[in-house]
Amino acid sequence: MGRLIIVSNRTPAPGERTQPAGGLTVGLYDAIQTKETLWFGWSGQQHEDAAKRPVQQEQVGNVNYVTFDLTKREYDRFYLNFSNGVLWPLCHYRTNLIRYTREDCDAYYAANEVFADRLVGLLEPGDTIWIHDYHLFPLARMLRDRGVKGLIGFFLHIPFPPWSVARLLPKLDMLLTGLAACDLIGVQTPEDETNLKGCFEVYGLKPAVEAVPIGIDPVSFRQQAIESAASDEVTKIVDTLEGTRLIIGVDRLDYSKGLPERMKGFAALLKNYPEHRGQVTFLQVTPVSRGGVESYRLLKEELDGLVGTINGAYGTPDWVPIRYTTWPIGRHILAGLYRMADVGFVTPLRDGMNLVAKEFIAAQDEDDPGVLVLSRFAGAAPEMPEALLINPLDAEGMADALHIGLTMDVEARHAAWSAMYGEVSRNTAGSWSKQFLDSLEAIRSCH
Ligand code: UDP
Ligand code: G6P
Repeated sequence: MGRLIIVSNRTPAPGERTQPAGGLTVGLYDAIQTKETLWFGWSGQQHEDAAKRPVQQEQVGNVNYVTFDLTKREYDRFYLNFSNGVLWPLCHYRTNLIRYTREDCDAYYAANEVFADRLVGLLEPGDTIWIHDYHLFPLARMLRDRGVKGLIGFFLHIPFPPWSVARLLPKLDMLLTGLAACDLIGVQTPEDETNLKGCFEVYGLKPAVEAVPIGIDPVSFRQQAIESAASDEVTKIVDTLEGTRLIIGVDRLDYSKGLPERMKGFAALLKNYPEHRGQVTFLQVTPVSRGGVESYRLLKEELDGLVGTINGAYGTPDWVPIRYTTWPIGRHILAGLYRMADVGFVTPLRDGMNLVAKEFIAAQDEDDPGVLVLSRFAGAAPEMPEALLINPLDAEGMADALHIGLTMDVEARHAAWSAMYGEVSRNTAGSWSKQFLDSLEAIRSCH
């Protein structure tokens, strides 16, 4: 096999290239360990003269990272306004949050042309191209238009909605026609597969679509959790809990994650099960994300207010119910905190996969595992039926699940955990990328 060319908008930052964080970059880490790889995408920087600036290159092991800057206009219109102000809410079924303008849409296609122009000069015959995520839906068509003949795969890390929702997007046909130029399109769940195929059918398109759920590397994450739980950093945090039980939530500050709903679920626990007052601490780690998009700013205001209201209503001079941070925490520290937690609280309204759910399970102590409370609407839910599955719109239902989780005996916790750990170990980041690339390769032999 020739080189693997990974194309994504977000690329691991220079300091993260040996230890990536974030769903997309973590998942891909395994795929690139054994193959000669070129990873192409945005540098994360904006520059007024971006169009004239050459690409930046860094070789780390067998991976050549090639990145380029975006102009302010591209950052605003391609990344913020269209990718995250139109496609993200559409794909997460949040149609009321879509802010569409034709200018942003044009800028999205123009930015994809920039990706295509810059990438095409780096390609060699025999390369296999693997494009990632909603920022780059039309890229495959643009590469084909520039004469690229090799295999092109695409993986969508976020959900894809049914036709009844997707049709709201002006020029949906153009987007899907661009995507259909791929040899294989991977999605996270069977539901996404059905939805995407249904939308293609409307336009008479028949590209190969396959559900290949992404995983983590459970062995290394587990090892990290064991070491981290014993570290000074984590011990210091755990000591401040003063013996209270720990419920943990970890998410980018995103409206898809069901964060206000989660706060209401926790408040319902304190209201309906007063025996937990003063006995439990809810730690919510919520790094700010895409702060340039209005709906994200409004969510932060709402969340800040809710946390204050709940802490004011139930807190006492010696107990703060919710600890809430809007800064990122390193993944190695999170690993230790997951291990020390009694409950992992994961409540998205919609999520492509949710790796945090899988990381929480991988991190647990098998002799005394914590309990996962998981939204039915996370892509991880079909793989983790042994979790306490909840609907994030139902605050009382979440409170019941938290109470069950906090009072479950060790046999029941162990039975649920070992089933989920089995699944997390079976379907890893490595098996995910292998399955996708094997399926793509099989398509080459059909040609
Ligand atoms: N993460 C992190 N630090 C934080 C918050 C999150 O390292 O402060 C990591 C988390 O451990 C997980 C990833 O970011 O690996 C989030 O992936 P997930 O699939 O849960 O959500 P996404 O952000 O991709 O929507
Ligand atoms: C999700 C998306 C990724 C994206 C990541 C972080 O995981 O599927 O494509 O990179 O969120 O979001 P950001 O806007 O910071 O790249």
